[in-house]
Amino acid sequence: MLDAKAIVTIDGPSGAGKSTISRGLAAKLHFTYLDTGAMYRAVGLALKRQSIDPADTASLKKCLAAIELTLVAPDGDDDVRVLLNGEDVSQAIRTPEMGLVASRVSANPLVREKLTALQRQLGEKGGIVAEGRDMGTVVFPGAACKFFLNASAEERARRRQKQLAEKGQTVEYQEIMDQISKRDYDDSRRQLAPLKPAVDAILVDSSSMDPEAVIDCMLASIAKSAR
Ligand code: DC
Repeated sequence: MLDAKAIVTIDGPSGAGKSTISRGLAAKLHFTYLDTGAMYRAVGLALKRQSIDPADTASLKKCLAAIELTLVAPDGDDDVRVLLNGEDVSQAIRTPEMGLVASRVSANPLVREKLTALQRQLGEKGGIVAEGRDMGTVVFPGAACKFFLNASAEERARRRQKQLAEKGQTVEYQEIMDQISKRDYDDSRRQLAPLKPAVDAILVDSSSMDPEAVIDCMLASIAKSAR
């Protein structure tokens, strides 16, 4: 199997099932799960709360310097808990609106510089499954195994609606579909670290697969690549 210090990356568009799959795969490998989308969401929340326009470089730099992010590994099926300067913002960052805010701030070079450095620091010891948009292309180009997880936009919107409903949030299907399309477009067209598969990534389409099947498929690829 994999070296205990290996890094596995899972990139892909929003709603492809990255969180569930990354969490499940990390558990199977006894690795730590690194949710980098949560980090962009937390920075987005900090900027929003302070009404900072990312174009205002001086204020942005000051705000970023004061941000301390801590990720607390989830217990079982829970999401990663995120502490922003000690405050648990896990719930506040997991709204469709914060997804769009995160997508917007993630195009900023100063934000990416800060979070890329932090992500590499968190990955220093290895033994992680890192999920995001640029894990295999930019943050961990030397990762032992890279996946690009995708699913049709319709399926992703259906899953996201169900996920939100489970959290008590009712959102119209079309609204979710519009948000997904906008995020896909913005995340893949931005100049810096755009969403795209690494040249050596294994492409997995989860449209008609349940999470267990996707994890099994990834474990099989990992076993094959470690041979
Ligand atoms: O995975 P997510 O939906 O929680 O991510 C929220 C946004 O953060 C996403 O639309 C783009 C940005 N992001 C990024 O630019 N790079 C990453 N590695 C992870 C997320």
